[in-house]
Amino acid sequence: MAGWLSPNTPMLIELNNIHKVYRVGVERIAALAGVSLAIRANEYIAVMGPSGSGKSTLMNVIGCLDRPTAGDYRLEGRLTREMNAAQLAHVRNEKIGFVFQSFELMPRLSALRNVALPLLYSRAGWRKRQHLAMEAVQRVGLGDRYKHRPNQLSGGQKQRVAIARALVNQPSLLLADEPTGNLDSKTGTEILQLFDELHAGGQTIMVVTHDPNVARRAKRVIRMLDGLVHSDLPSDEDAAKFGAQVVSAGGDGP
Ligand SMILES: Nc1ncnc2c1ncn2[C@@H]1O[C@H](COP(=O)(O)OP(=O)(O)O)[C@@H](O)[C@H]1O
Ligand SMILES: [Mg+2]
Repeated sequence: MAGWLSPNTPMLIELNNIHKVYRVGVERIAALAGVSLAIRANEYIAVMGPSGSGKSTLMNVIGCLDRPTAGDYRLEGRLTREMNAAQLAHVRNEKIGFVFQSFELMPRLSALRNVALPLLYSRAGWRKRQHLAMEAVQRVGLGDRYKHRPNQLSGGQKQRVAIARALVNQPSLLLADEPTGNLDSKTGTEILQLFDELHAGGQTIMVVTHDPNVARRAKRVIRMLDGLVHSDLPSDEDAAKFGAQVVSAGGDGP
C-alpha cells in the first residue's frame, strides 16, 4: 500500500485559492496568499519553508482550527465554508488528528486518560473508550506506561501519547506541526519511524518540519514561501533540487 498511489484514490483535501489575512491594528498580514493543493488518502507530505512563510496557518486551516478569509476548502468532498461552528468542531474531532511541537498534554491526567479525551465527544461508553484508548497507546509502543502522567514521561514518550491521542478517533488525516522540534535527534528519529509505520498502515500524514531527514522520509514535499506554495514535488525530486541547500540550513533539534 505505502508508496503506491492510484490516480483513482479519492481526494481527501482540496484547497482552491485559499487566502488567510490577519489584521493586527491597521496592518493586514497575508499569512496565506492564494494556496491551491490537493491531497489524496495515504499521502505522506512534508511541509517546509522559512519561519513566517505560512506553514502553521496552512495546517490550522486544513485542520479546521481556523477558517480561511477567502477560497474554497473541501474536506472529503464537503465544502467547509458551508459548515457551522458545531459541524466544524465535529469534523475536526472525527477527521483530523493534531500533533504539536509542545505536546499539549493535560498534566494531571494519565497517558491513557489523555489519549481518551477526544472520545468524550463520541457516543462510546466508558468501557469502549477505555478499550480504544488502550489500543492507541499500544500502537505507539507505550503499553507499559499508560498509567504515567506527562511529568513521569520523557519528551519522546510524551509525543507518543500526543500521537496516540491524535489517532484514537482514526482520523482521515494526521497533521503534525514540527513534532520533533522539542526532541533530541535520536528520539526524533524514533518518532519518525512511528510515522513511517503509520503511513505503511494506510494513515495520511502531513508534517511541518525544518528537518531534511523528515522531508526525505515523506513521499511529497511542499515548500512554502510568503504565504504561497513555492514548490510541490515528489521527495526524491525535491532532494535533487533543494538537497544541498537544505542540509546547510541545519535541522531543528536542540
Ligand atoms: N494569529 C495571528 N495574528 C496575526 N498574525 C499572524 C497570526 N498567526 C500568524 N500570523 C502571521 O502570519 C504569517 C505566517 O505565520 P505562520 O503560519 O505561523 O508561519 P510559519 O508556521 O511558517 O512560521 C507570519 O507573518 C505571522 O506573523
Ligand atoms: Mg509554524
